[in-house]
Amino acid sequence: MLASIKPLIILEPYMEKPTKKKRNICCIGAGYVGGPTMTMIASKCSEIKITVVDINKNRIDSWNSADLTKLPIYEPGLAEILSKVRNKNLFFSNDVKGAISKADIIFLSVNTPTKIKGIGKGKASNLEYLENSVREIAKYSKGHTIIVEKSTVPVKTAETIELLLNSSCLDNVNNEKKTYSVISNPEFLAEGSAIKDLEKPDRVLIGGKDQNAVKEIKELYLSWVSSEKILTTNLWSSELSKLTANAFLAQRVSSINTISAICEKTGANIAEVSRAIGTDQRIGKNFLNAGPGFGGSCFKKDILSLVYLCIYYRLDEVAKYWENVIAINNWQQDRISRLIIGNLFGTIENKKIAILGFAFKADTNDTRESPAIKISKNLLQEGAKLSIYDPKVEEEKINFELNSCFDDVACSIDKSKWKKFDSIEDTLKGADAVVLLTEWEEFKYLPWSNLFKLLRKPAWIFDTRNILDPNDFCSEGINLWINGIGEYSN
Ligand code: NAD
Ligand code: UGA
Repeated sequence: MLASIKPLIILEPYMEKPTKKKRNICCIGAGYVGGPTMTMIASKCSEIKITVVDINKNRIDSWNSADLTKLPIYEPGLAEILSKVRNKNLFFSNDVKGAISKADIIFLSVNTPTKIKGIGKGKASNLEYLENSVREIAKYSKGHTIIVEKSTVPVKTAETIELLLNSSCLDNVNNEKKTYSVISNPEFLAEGSAIKDLEKPDRVLIGGKDQNAVKEIKELYLSWVSSEKILTTNLWSSELSKLTANAFLAQRVSSINTISAICEKTGANIAEVSRAIGTDQRIGKNFLNAGPGFGGSCFKKDILSLVYLCIYYRLDEVAKYWENVIAINNWQQDRISRLIIGNLFGTIENKKIAILGFAFKADTNDTRESPAIKISKNLLQEGAKLSIYDPKVEEEKINFELNSCFDDVACSIDKSKWKKFDSIEDTLKGADAVVLLTEWEEFKYLPWSNLFKLLRKPAWIFDTRNILDPNDFCSEGINLWINGIGEYSN
């Protein structure tokens, strides 16, 4: 008897596929997040039309500039992708009303800085830009619209957005009811590696109540991100995860910076310690570089937002714990300023100090919260004259940052006390010290033996990023200090 033949079923792994629906997206906010994120979506979803809008006319003009070196932000790889999609399915405009009225999906990518006045001053997030955008949506949107929180926001912000939207839900022109679904989809890109982060994200996080809307946003990402990397959660988990991720990352930087100070006292070497602990898979090797302290527009602001949330919920001990991550960051910047002054015989009055790097990290022109600001202001306050070089930061931005007010450092700085140069040679001419603050690739391979001649001896090189090769520094009258090692002697 013939054995019964079972039909052979070939099971293919279930792959979620994008539906490639034609969609109109509006992104409010053409900054470091809105610009690159929408460029990536446009390049991966040619069927979707995206309009990025901003109230800042100069910013939009720069995004539309024919000269790709004039884009408002410097981000490796961005110009190449942008040039393929701009004015095809990606548009930059100041017509906020027009873009909102045509959109099915609206991304909110506006800034959410720390409040500088009123209740919660210095801690809570200032949500006025977000609220203004939502009010515009409430006025001009039509039919059903999915609102996506891309900006980093305090937990429960989606609730506020819903309240604002639902208080004016009649389309005045068509007299139809307008409806909304609010979704949280925080952005995890880091500046300098934004294109890589957007193209190959560790995860995409989508939180929301309306599962149809969650599915729509997921489908967008499925065009280039595999489904196992797309995590869906409830709204509040998504909002809180963003703040938590930044708090944990910042905490790692503060932790390693405390250990670097111990290394300098004990003869241990921070690079060796980082390597040794980073091989433990539970710790991991990334984000263990000692530096002058973390900068960037978000770590401090997001920890402060978390602290405010803790205070609001009367979790005072938790608030104190996270506040200390910021306290250590400030301490690291002051510690470095003090040891520069100490090594220059305790006085830097009228001494020339060369600053290499003003951006908060390499591969960006962003200076927001850059440790270079506080360290420069500390040195200027002690009477030094600064010569500053950064390959991507414009003089106007340095001027803005040096005249900003925070902590106990002077608000305005006499312009005759500092100068920006376009070449490293000019920056170093006659300097008593060189302070390397940003880990730009070009700083790693400088022709030091030629550069020494330009300095006034005895001179000091302070490598706050631990990127210089000590073997390049065996020269008379030249002293080298490396973060996490201390004074280097051959
Ligand atoms: P940004 O300041 O570079 O850009 C925000 C833009 O929004 C500005 O150009 C501003 O003019 C515009 N804007 C403000 N109000 C507006 C309104 N009512 N209508 C139209 N445009 C308006 O800020 P960013 O760095 O892009 O950050 C945006 C958000 O993303 C923040 O919440 C931030 O925390 C978060 N985030 C930033 C990064 C980053 O690397 N910068 C990464 C992840 C998340
Ligand atoms: C950070 C996060 O890495 C992103 O995931 C997040 O989306 C973003 O904040 C945000 O929410 O804005 P970013 O600030 O662009 O990105 O840059 P990072 O690479 O995180 O560096 C932040 C600061 O920490 C820089 O000043 C950097 O020099 C410093 N850092 C980083 C160190 O000193 N050591 C390290 O090992 C890593």
